[in-house]
Amino acid sequence: MANKVTVRTLKKIKDNGEKFSMLTAYDFSTAKYIDNAGTDIILIGDSLAMTALGYDNTNCIGVEEMTIFTKAVAKGAERAMVVTDMPFMSYTIDIPSALINIGNMVKNGANAVKLEGCNDYIEKLIECTVNMGVPVMGHIGYTPQSQNVIGGHIIQGKTEQAAEELLKQAQKLEKAGVFSLVLEMVPEDVAKNITENISVPTISCGAGRYCDGFVMVCDDLFGKFDNFTPKFARKYGDMKSLITNCAAKYIEDIKNGNYPNENEVY
Ligand code: KIV
Repeated sequence: MANKVTVRTLKKIKDNGEKFSMLTAYDFSTAKYIDNAGTDIILIGDSLAMTALGYDNTNCIGVEEMTIFTKAVAKGAERAMVVTDMPFMSYTIDIPSALINIGNMVKNGANAVKLEGCNDYIEKLIECTVNMGVPVMGHIGYTPQSQNVIGGHIIQGKTEQAAEELLKQAQKLEKAGVFSLVLEMVPEDVAKNITENISVPTISCGAGRYCDGFVMVCDDLFGKFDNFTPKFARKYGDMKSLITNCAAKYIEDIKNGNYPNENEVY
């Protein structure tokens, strides 16, 4: 078995001034292929609410659904660290119920969990989660689960005061025990400053070039999801056309009597 990526691997990558990759996956075969390709972290992002389930936003998904996707992805990931996004309301009611939900993800194959935001409660929860034996990835800047409070898909940390606040949050989360920190939709210089001022690796999600790692939603990378594509997403393929063309050819072959042929029957 390939050497599993752990919190120590990621810290070493940061300390050596190297970069690492994180990609989302929502099913077994995608996890297996991106693991073979060498991605360091596979995130079962709650973005799957939109990309895999067609929901309107990430707040529509629950623990039961995230558990099923975690199980499937974990089976496909041999080397990559498997991180599950704790969904909306699964960790903010109280610490005991949060720990049960978090522990359940680990029982279903997650190596770590991701929690959004920074406040006294989240800091306490991170401490308790790490004490329970589960590494936590933090997530600040634009936090999709708070989209209704933020008031839209808006870049965070744009003023000097907001940038200072983000740095303070990053330092608090580091102190609470996160092993890495996603910075979403933050100006590049703000993310660079945070990266240089905390010892745990930062992960850029539309936060520019100077973080230690980078994340992308796999459906954006593959060119599969076409409802909405953020500026920072780079399309490396055209799965939408691939799927449409395969289906169209199959349909045509049936209509023309070309499927199945003599080698495809018992
Ligand atoms: O849900 C998700 O996919 C995410 C990443 C884009 C960071 O949280």
